[in-house]
Amino acid sequence: MSEEEVDRRIQEIGEQISRDYAGRQVHLVCVLKGGSFFLCELAKRITVPVSLDFMSVSSYGGDTKSSGVVKIVKDLDDPLAGKDVIVVEDIVDSGRTLSYLLEMLGGRGPSSLKLCTLLDKPERRVVDVKVDYTGFEIPDEFVVGYGLDYDQRYRNLPYIGIVEFD
Ligand code: IMP
Ligand code: MG
Repeated sequence: MSEEEVDRRIQEIGEQISRDYAGRQVHLVCVLKGGSFFLCELAKRITVPVSLDFMSVSSYGGDTKSSGVVKIVKDLDDPLAGKDVIVVEDIVDSGRTLSYLLEMLGGRGPSSLKLCTLLDKPERRVVDVKVDYTGFEIPDEFVVGYGLDYDQRYRNLPYIGIVEFD
């Protein structure tokens, strides 16, 4: 996906969220580090009041696979009770990270809890996760850029590219 395509799609999602949350405030929860580039662009496109918080999780396992065991490395600063929360992620792959995270965050009493992901690889799903806003559905390929890394590199690419492993 080129920079223009990604930007255009984020603009559309921002407009959709602004419509869906008209008259309310949205609390965007960014999952670091991958979600950070998407979060910044998305937040700029939302016209209802926005507040932000960040958390960092790590899944034990290799770089290109998640094990399903999720550890909170940095928790949110603020409580979620009574807030209209949207979790902003870079990618939903097996769904393990998100299903764990959504269940945990749901237990903190938000008024509503939705999931917005830049990318979705539905073919790879192992655990069922309801995605409310998706940038792009992609096939089972390893991608980098726009926050997504390969061994911590390439997050800063302004577009999304496929990694070719030989
Ligand atoms: P899940 O728990 O399998 O859904 O894994 C989600 C996490 O795996 C994401 O937040 C990414 O950090 C990582 N991930 C999955 N697929 C890719 C990819 O294609 N490129 C870069 N990171 C990926
Ligand atoms: Mg990663």
